[in-house]
Amino acid sequence: MSVKSEVSNWKFSTFLENNNNKFNKNDILNVLAKQDMDEAYQIISKWNNYSPTPLISLNKLSKELNIKKIFYKDESKRFHLKSFKALGGAYAVEKVTKGNKEITVSTATAGNHGRSVAWGSKKLGLKCKIFISEYVSEFRAKVIRSFGADVIRVKGNYDNSLKECIKQSKQNNWQIVQDVAWQDYKLVPKLTMAGYSVMMKEISEQINNQQISHVILQAGVGGMAAAMVAGIARYLDNVPKIIVVEPESAACVLESIKTGKIEKISIKKESLMGGMSCDEVSLVPWEILKNSVSHCVTVSDDYIAKTVKRLASCEFSEEKIIGGECSTPGIISLIGLCNDFKIRKKINLNEESNVLLFGCEGDADEELYQKLLN
Ligand SMILES: Cc1ncc(COP(=O)(O)O)c(C=O)c1O
Repeated sequence: MSVKSEVSNWKFSTFLENNNNKFNKNDILNVLAKQDMDEAYQIISKWNNYSPTPLISLNKLSKELNIKKIFYKDESKRFHLKSFKALGGAYAVEKVTKGNKEITVSTATAGNHGRSVAWGSKKLGLKCKIFISEYVSEFRAKVIRSFGADVIRVKGNYDNSLKECIKQSKQNNWQIVQDVAWQDYKLVPKLTMAGYSVMMKEISEQINNQQISHVILQAGVGGMAAAMVAGIARYLDNVPKIIVVEPESAACVLESIKTGKIEKISIKKESLMGGMSCDEVSLVPWEILKNSVSHCVTVSDDYIAKTVKRLASCEFSEEKIIGGECSTPGIISLIGLCNDFKIRKKINLNEESNVLLFGCEGDADEELYQKLLN
């Protein structure tokens, strides 16, 4: 059966146009500087076992959707950590500890950021404390412990784990390496974003002078999306349409774009896309996203398992792809947008389009991955 016949009734949940979209390269590079991205690439590309992750063609899906090309950046292969987060936290640890072996590093995490911070700390021989909420799976906790970190589980949600992390870090003089910014805490989140921008540097070389017309970026607190926008400003010759995708239950970027200011939302039900289940866009990413995103879209959890299975069974591409829950919303939203003929036309998604998607993680949570697959 063709892909289209199976996915032709998939829908996105919400779609919003950003009335404040006026992509300005200089403004973006004032928030995340060219030099910061260049330095991150210089350092990370010298790490042991570094190699660019694959940019895979979803040629079967593009044929069915009548789109020229769909590029899928496969972060399941990132340093055996199985997500792009490997680039951010570990890099920030290296930069802020500056070779000082006495420092204890701490962070709060939904999973992948903590894994990166723990891995980076282990590489440098540093002690590490990772705070997780009750929603983070024991599997993810186990992987973090395997890098020698202490894992502290906190009752409640991510916010509670962050509060506890800040409290204990103050008491014990630990160095917090957080990917979320707040007033007076912006340097480290910027470093994590500089680390993520390595993805766009790689992509700019992998696309071989082809122009990307649309990019769909997953957002939790917006760090990865904003880093990719900065990477576009730094490394690409053209400006694609920039579309942010979020879980329908946690659309904090969409709600902020709607009003033009940061909105804290209330999450009624945690999305299966745990890393993207965030209630407030982070300050530094917001400075970039507010004027550079062209559209926001949200998707429901209903299509996640179906997408994971199709990626694994070569229905979208020639090769098998291991894509975890957060790898799916780019694909789901693209299919939904293509199925809506009015919107498809409005945003110029057609047979001339080259669409860039991010496979943010592989089976980072193996147990959840197996459940989604079966
Ligand atoms: C695994 C994972 N965690 C977290 C995020 C969200 O990143 P950020 O919080 O920087 O927006 C994503 C993707 O957006 C992701 O794939």
